[in-house]
Amino acid sequence: MSDISIVIASHSGYGHTAQIATAVADGARSLAGTHVHRVDVASLSDADWELLDAADAIIFGTPTYMGTASGAFHAFAEASSKRWMTRAWSDKLAAGFTNSGSMSGDKLHTLQYLSLLAAQHGMLWVSLNLLPGWNTTTSSPQDDNRLGFYLGAGAQSFNDTPAVHDADLNTARHLGRRVAEHTRIHRAGLAAAAHCHGSCSSGVCAGQCLAGAGEDMSTATAIMNVCDDVSGRGGRGSHDSRAGVERDVREGHGGGRGLLRAA
Ligand SMILES: Cc1cc2nc3c(=O)[nH]c(=O)nc-3n(C[C@H](O)[C@H](O)[C@H](O)COP(=O)(O)O)c2cc1C
Repeated sequence: MSDISIVIASHSGYGHTAQIATAVADGARSLAGTHVHRVDVASLSDADWELLDAADAIIFGTPTYMGTASGAFHAFAEASSKRWMTRAWSDKLAAGFTNSGSMSGDKLHTLQYLSLLAAQHGMLWVSLNLLPGWNTTTSSPQDDNRLGFYLGAGAQSFNDTPAVHDADLNTARHLGRRVAEHTRIHRAGLAAAAHCHGSCSSGVCAGQCLAGAGEDMSTATAIMNVCDDVSGRGGRGSHDSRAGVERDVREGHGGGRGLLRAA
């Protein structure tokens, strides 16, 4: 499996959102082979911009100030218009998180703004995919996603203490991990699709490459589907040959070793 790079591009005026960003980073790092970088959008160096340009995924984070992203984050978004012109961030994965003093505090608007920024860049938005917690009489404010967001991770921190809520940290870790997982799948899919165009006659061929490269079962199966769709040759592969690939993946001795890396 080839490594992936995720950059967390965030701002924090008073330190709360920075702690959420750390949890997002921890979650992303929990998937082996994930390189995570943090950049402060209020003071970006040329090297930081290069990290952003080279990333497979960018996770945007900002406190909610006056119902939207902070001024520093907005300045960063405007500066990113140079990348917008060249489509430099197109097809990278993206996600977002925000934090504010109130339970709502109009955080939804901030997440919408972050997803819109990603869309303007042609990025692929990864949602939170965590059922809302703390929404029944028997549930708890310690539940993950206690504030019930779907678009990204929403956190709430009291204005008079530097502490952030444990449940929000867990939710942030979940988002980081989810972005890492989907970035891995997307990268593998792109590599396999590129290989399909070159020499595979079906997704089964690419599945064999993935098996050789050590991908797990669900990834290899997903890639077989992608490859069949992209190549448009022969539908979804014969039942027998797919079963063979799946058996190879399970037993760890797929054919085509090394082809994925070359793709
Ligand atoms: C200029 C300003 C505007 C704010 N606007 C909001 C707001 O619209 N909604 C809200 O819930 N909290 C608001 N807050 C509170 C912050 O969102 C909250 O203190 C947050 O934890 C700050 O994150 P930070 O420590 O990363 O800067 C505002 C704070 C400041 C300084």
